[in-house]
Amino acid sequence: MNLRMGVFGHPIGHSMSPAMHNAALAEVGLQGSYGAYDIHPEDLEEAVRSLREDQFRGVNVTLPHKVNVMPFLDEISSDARTIGAVNTIVQENGRLIGYNTDGQGYLDSLLTESGEELKNKKVLIIGAGGAARAVAVSLLKYGVQVLAITNRTMSKAKEIARICEPVGPVSVLPSTIAQANLTGFDVIINTTSIGMAPDIDRMPFSLETLKRDSIVSDLIYTPLKTRWLQVAENKGAKTINGLGMFINQGAIAFELWTGRKAPREKMKQTVLDALK
Ligand code: ATR
Repeated sequence: MNLRMGVFGHPIGHSMSPAMHNAALAEVGLQGSYGAYDIHPEDLEEAVRSLREDQFRGVNVTLPHKVNVMPFLDEISSDARTIGAVNTIVQENGRLIGYNTDGQGYLDSLLTESGEELKNKKVLIIGAGGAARAVAVSLLKYGVQVLAITNRTMSKAKEIARICEPVGPVSVLPSTIAQANLTGFDVIINTTSIGMAPDIDRMPFSLETLKRDSIVSDLIYTPLKTRWLQVAENKGAKTINGLGMFINQGAIAFELWTGRKAPREKMKQTVLDALK
């Protein structure tokens, strides 16, 4: 069987998903291809229809389509429904099913790379966009001790607390309060785009009150070490960048499409080579 897959986004030029997934297909010896499709928002419904006509096994969905694609699907997984966004579509017998693998992908990388049990940890999320939603839902489902969220726009942080209510409690903190009380947190996660190339000098948050032995994480992976992670490392924190989340969200999607275990190491090496 020749598996057809890909990613829908706009713009899509810099996506590393095709290289990562084509390397994964070759590594496990499956016939297929994964392409990048630049889909203008106006053409999204037609593009989803073409998945059925052209018998795609599935696609990833990235910005700006993660929310708007949902009405065009036949079924939405419960995680994706709670998060309110889909990043992976799987076609099963002509039915299109939407999943969200971002949150689980992030949680897997946090657990693996920290090497720690997180159930007794107090966690702070900075930012309240789509990525923050996915991370918050996954952390709550896993069951951390405390989850707090801070954001420039407080109403968006409150909205995340509201959608998370069925899963677990989230406290909403103004940035000034959060920054002054970092000793109250064991894990601090930046989900904003502040510090991403080319604006590599910017920092999302002051780490002045950070305690040693904290875990500080950034969803950004371009650059692999943001200035913020460098500052955290200098203060004695364990740091985790966004590369693991990117690899894992792709690996979980690959497993949904192929039923095979994703070759995560090969996928990671391919992305690292592409980033050079
Ligand atoms: P994504 O879906 O990737 O999470 P997003 O929905 O655009 O992206 O969310 C971006 C997040 O980064 C938001 O929390 C945003 O804060 P606001 O909700 O206040 O807009 C945050 N962000 C982006 N640029 C920022 C900046 N210059 N200062 C503070 N926060 C910023």
